[in-house]
Amino acid sequence: MKKNTELKISIVMGSQSDYKIMKLAEKTLKKIGVSYETKIISAHRTPQRMYKYALKTEQNHIGVIIAGAGGSAHLPGMISALTHVPVLGVPIESKKLKGLDSLLSISQMPKGIPVGTLAIGEDGAINAALLAAAIIANQNPSIRKKLKNFRIRQTKSIKKNPK
Ligand code: RP5
Repeated sequence: MKKNTELKISIVMGSQSDYKIMKLAEKTLKKIGVSYETKIISAHRTPQRMYKYALKTEQNHIGVIIAGAGGSAHLPGMISALTHVPVLGVPIESKKLKGLDSLLSISQMPKGIPVGTLAIGEDGAINAALLAAAIIANQNPSIRKKLKNFRIRQTKSIKKNPK
């Protein structure tokens, strides 16, 4: 059997409670027709799981990581510190600070370890999926075509008149 070496998208999140937002990334990738895997990995509750996952990303043909986290939200930065695979962070809305804590934690990474930061919540999860697909599309003409078709469908769905 031919080994599948195509780069894939990996969605990770710090908690089960993040899934209500992160499932929108899954939904978006499904809509475009791009495959992915999804895992719960907490930087502080399951640090060994995070470490093992991050060190195996290249071996597992992961081309982009989408990491959702809330609060102190160190998951995207910690994963990025352990791999060269690009990491896109989705700040999850927190109860106390409405996700501003998550946004600043993810976006304010000190130089040397980059994390691409998306918007807080739903929009961030959806755009992370689109951006991840666009990154993979650089080496995958079939995904590029699917993304172009998605844009065409999206454009067609916008009515000219609000009534
Ligand atoms: C973070 O803490 C998670 O990413 C989540 O957004 C937040 C709260 O987690 P739970 O207490 O709901 O498990 O690690």
